[in-house]
Amino acid sequence: MPTVRVAEATDAPTLVSLVRRAYQGERGWTTAAALLNDERMNEAQMLKKIEDPETTVHVAMDGSRIVGCCELVRLENGKVHFGTFAVEPELQAAGVGRYILTQTEIAAAKMGVTCVEMTVIAQRPELIAWYQRRGYALTGETRPFPFHTLINGGALRDDLYFVVLEKPVSMGV
Ligand SMILES: CC(C)(COP(=O)(O)OP(=O)(O)OC[C@H]1O[C@@H](n2cnc3c(N)ncnc32)[C@H](O)[C@@H]1OP(=O)(O)O)[C@@H](O)C(=O)NCCC(=O)NCCS
Repeated sequence: MPTVRVAEATDAPTLVSLVRRAYQGERGWTTAAALLNDERMNEAQMLKKIEDPETTVHVAMDGSRIVGCCELVRLENGKVHFGTFAVEPELQAAGVGRYILTQTEIAAAKMGVTCVEMTVIAQRPELIAWYQRRGYALTGETRPFPFHTLINGGALRDDLYFVVLEKPVSMGV
């Protein structure tokens, strides 16, 4: 399995490329390509995340190669938000995503938070099921999809929205 480290500013271009290919790539078992044709994020947005003191971007390394990433954003309610999750498409479905998620939950517990939350597009049932198999539960809350902030592209349907999932974490994870 890869090693997981905290991202540095110089990782930003590689991370943007990875995230774009994972969300929009034709390979991989789950992508957002049927729902969106935007570019997901740009380098300035990734740099902002890396430099934000309330955000930790995690990078999974296979030797010197970046093969995955995710972020934790500390919230004011004692929870942490998990997002920007991507695994190199050609390496998906081999357990790398599961490993990154587990390592990140351990990091969240060390931050002293009680709970990891995430939002998933409701129209991605296979991904929601994957998180449920990892112990995340739907809270029943939904949130609007940010149609107006998409970069260089748009949504392919107008009924997208997020569901919220949560998992309690503790030092024992
Ligand atoms: C979501 C993502 C990070 C998961 O990473 P991964 O390395 O593929 O995940 P894993 O290898 O640990 O797990 C693969 C799972 O897919 C399942 N799977 C494989 N092929 C599948 C298919 N065709 N349909 C449904 N599930 C499938 C496997 O059974 C396995 O689940 P299990 O461990 O519960 O049995 C990765 O697929 C990705 O980058 N997707 C694009 C970006 C994205 O959607 N990010 C999440 C946004 S919230």
